Amino acid sequence: MKISVIYFSETGGTGRVAEFIAGGARAAGDTEVRLFNLKSGVDADFVNDCAAVIFGTPTYCAGMCWQMKKWFDTDRGVRLGGKLGAVFATENSPNGGGAEAAILSVVTHLLVKGMLVYSSGTEFGRPFIHIGPTVVRKNIPEKEELCDLFGRRIALKAHALFGASSR
Ligand SMILES: Cc1cc2nc3c(=O)[nH]c(=O)nc-3n(C[C@H](O)[C@H](O)[C@H](O)COP(=O)(O)O)c2cc1C
Repeated sequence: MKISVIYFSETGGTGRVAEFIAGGARAAGDTEVRLFNLKSGVDADFVNDCAAVIFGTPTYCAGMCWQMKKWFDTDRGVRLGGKLGAVFATENSPNGGGAEAAILSVVTHLLVKGMLVYSSGTEFGRPFIHIGPTVVRKNIPEKEELCDLFGRRIALKAHALFGASSR
């Protein structure tokens, strides 16, 4: 099974979180995971072959970054419909910088694309992930375990939904 992590990262923080999540998805086994920073582009053929796509955005003004919004609004090569979709976000402010709002701004796009949106939420008990990991920039190193767990849960759900051999 293939899974993509599509993110935008200007100064590296969201990219580090994406690596943690990709590590967890790979740990689920039988899963090829590739990461795409929108700065460098996306391999549409690979993404189209994926069962799940995990999106990561830095919080810009309590929403997704404009680079990801632009990608959603202009990309015509990637088909997301019917795939499992999940979202995480980074932010700078430890006092509520709007990362959850940023996640939800991505979720609206995933719904419009026809994705099956999932976060693991409370399904597996603690730690609850709620709507998706929100990581304050200065806390990134200490969130590795949670992000790894998120990636693993998304991959396991993709396997449960689509089967190891279906993609
Ligand atoms: C234009 C812009 C707007 C931002 N708005 C917010 C914000 O509303 N809340 C916040 O906590 N951080 C905000 N930030 C900080 C980024 O979300 C944060 O530094 C993020 O982790 C950067 O990710 P990156 O290192 O992957 O580029 C903003 C940064 C930029 C450049």
